[in-house]
Amino acid sequence: MSTAMAARDLAEGTLSSIKGRFVTVEGIDGAGKSTHIEAIAQWLAADGTTVVRSREPGGTELAERLRDLVLHTPMDAMTEALLVFAARRDHLQRVITPALVAGHTVLCDRFTDATFAYQGAGRGFRIDVLTQLESWVQASVMPDLTLWFDLEPSLAASRRAGAREGDRFEREDDLFFRRVRDGYRERMRANPQRVVRIDAGGDRASVVAQILHVLRERGWVAT
Ligand code: TYD
Repeated sequence: MSTAMAARDLAEGTLSSIKGRFVTVEGIDGAGKSTHIEAIAQWLAADGTTVVRSREPGGTELAERLRDLVLHTPMDAMTEALLVFAARRDHLQRVITPALVAGHTVLCDRFTDATFAYQGAGRGFRIDVLTQLESWVQASVMPDLTLWFDLEPSLAASRRAGAREGDRFEREDDLFFRRVRDGYRERMRANPQRVVRIDAGGDRASVVAQILHVLRERGWVAT
């Protein structure tokens, strides 16, 4: 199927020819997902599958420009939500859907769960509107698996301390990240088959073991 056809099918909400796997990683800032994402890509590619790595907001020229605005320009929660969904739409049309239709695995650093957690739970923006936007923007495209790196917010804050100067989200306080964490927990509760909690509080080896366990359980890595 051509990219144009995939885009049209997505727009019509009738996408039926997706063959690839869609994996996302989530968590509050400082939970440690970036440390593990490269290894996850390698495990998923071990059987010869092409793994397309991307991130949100971002992943296309337009979406990266929107990312820069969302991360660094003051705006209200609704504007934030609309911009991350606009970025997501472009990303889905140009990168994610074509890759899935081609049978590739897409591994994305954050996706819509982040919008529910940050704009919804964190900022207090309306969940019902986010749910509506999710179905307009994504039609039937949903991740097959989401690895939620869960870490106590005070620990995440100490891991963030000393890193480069924070963006608009990283500068938020402990209460904000507690709400964001609750938002992720709620998404897991509502989607128990898809969202898997990784206890990110342990050492590196324990996090690796948990991720491999999940991928093996699904038959996605052999060893
Ligand atoms: P992040 O993924 O942590 O990238 P980096 O590791 O480079 O800091 O940064 C993206 C930020 O964007 C993060 O703080 C969460 C926020 N975000 C939202 O608020 N809503 C969204 O829908 C997405 C995808 C991200």
